[in-house]
Amino acid sequence: MRLILLGPPGAGKGTQAKFLVDAYNIPQLSTGDMLREAVAAGTEVGKQAKAIMEAGKLVSDDIINAIISERISQPDCARGFILDGFPRTLEQADALYHMLDDKGMKIEKVIALEVDDDALVERISGRYTCADCGEGYHDKFKQPAKEGVCDRCGSTEFKRRKDDNPETLKTRLFAYYKDTAPLIGYYHAYRMLNTVDGMADIGDVTKAIRTILDA
Ligand code: AP5
Repeated sequence: MRLILLGPPGAGKGTQAKFLVDAYNIPQLSTGDMLREAVAAGTEVGKQAKAIMEAGKLVSDDIINAIISERISQPDCARGFILDGFPRTLEQADALYHMLDDKGMKIEKVIALEVDDDALVERISGRYTCADCGEGYHDKFKQPAKEGVCDRCGSTEFKRRKDDNPETLKTRLFAYYKDTAPLIGYYHAYRMLNTVDGMADIGDVTKAIRTILDA
């Protein structure tokens, strides 16, 4: 299954992708995670992306398309993948179409998570992740079962993203509405779009997505 999760920053793309990885045994391809790894490793891409990401702006289509083109050619993507944070511009959507078409493949489902702006601010400002395994948490909506201990790996180290602050979020939301929201119309035009109420509880959002994927 080849799937795109669309939605504004904090909509729950990463949270839902993690459940779908387990349910369908296909990898999550998060361009945000790949870029953060490149920044941490100090690669050329990381050096170019660092300041752009910290400002909440979009990294260039050329860089992102090259990263995804290389990643979807890996053997673990042969059975499918979940795109989280890509495509984010009409140019990226067209590039993805051609990358897959060259391999005789296509995207099967596009799922857009709909969440109010006020809720996005609350979600982004309360988000943190395990520093070791990357499991995502929230101060209010998703706490570890044992306080201060990661449910998944038992680590006691957690971290917060540098771009998760109210000022940068404004820029990220601007970029979403200007450059990414047009993809809703794009995929609707191709009759691939499914929308899900992302304001529901995390488990209910997962159920709604699985109903669409299993149909
Ligand atoms: P990226 O890492 O993709 O960030 P984003 O799109 O802003 O999305 P987030 O990861 O912030 O949110 P999410 O939807 O995954 O929410 P989550 O599940 O964590 O991109 C970062 C930067 O990289 C970009 O700004 C850009 O610079 C660059 N970049 C990346 N891709 C690019 C591309 N294709 N082109 C150009 N540049 C690119 O949930 C958030 C919180 O809410 C969590 O704490 C979670 O526990 C909680 N939560 C989730 N669901 C619910 C729910 N239903 N109810 C209550 N709480 C919930």
